[in-house]
Amino acid sequence: MTELELIKTTKQFVKHKLSDAEAGHDWFHIQRVYQLALHIAQKEGINDLLIIKLGALLHDIADAKFHDGNEDLGPQIAGQFLEKHAVNDAVINEVKLIIKHISFKTEAASYTSDDLKILQDADRLDAMGAIGIARAFNFGGYKNRALYNPEIPSKPQQSKAEYKASKAPTLNHFDEKLLLLKDQMHTKSAKKIAQKRHNYMLNFVERFKQEWYLQIDEA
Ligand code: ADP
Ligand code: NI
Repeated sequence: MTELELIKTTKQFVKHKLSDAEAGHDWFHIQRVYQLALHIAQKEGINDLLIIKLGALLHDIADAKFHDGNEDLGPQIAGQFLEKHAVNDAVINEVKLIIKHISFKTEAASYTSDDLKILQDADRLDAMGAIGIARAFNFGGYKNRALYNPEIPSKPQQSKAEYKASKAPTLNHFDEKLLLLKDQMHTKSAKKIAQKRHNYMLNFVERFKQEWYLQIDEA
């Protein structure tokens, strides 16, 4: 199988597998991350794109959030798929490590690579800006969260587990995570895009609160 055929087959596999996915983690998220990762890779002068392409396509194949917190399922499904198509072991191994470590939570772990950094940047950029806002509110809706609640402080005051169980409103997710992403970018090209998306989110949060508290004269 040529590289081109492998990528095509992988796209079909992922598209099918994510056909019922939550809108923030669906095939279109994968497509955006794929395009962003290729854009960053090109700017960073990376020549061999196979692992980046496969990593982008397979990174949310079985997100632990939607599978009882099981962090191993994604790498496992991706590994089986790649083995079936006789991809070489070194590539399979890299892709599995990338899927395991791409997420926010597991980053503290020891593994890293240039490909992983680019994919983390791409995945995080898609959580920012206008699309990031849309994804956050969609996720909040999926979890039946309030848009905003002035009685719940935006910085967690309890333990992380208690905070999670408190069903914090979606607007809190901006202070909790989305407005921190800009400073977590690895590559120069992602930092540039992140700054613009960050500013857009800041404006949004400010405007949201102005409207909530009727601080805007809309006459
Ligand atoms: P990752 O999978 O990269 O570790 P997440 O799954 O936390 O990161 O984020 C993926 C998407 O889901 C982002 O767009 C993020 O805003 C959204 N999301 C995750 N948790 C929440 C939440 N508590 N409220 C709103 N959106 C969330
Ligand atoms: Ni993702």
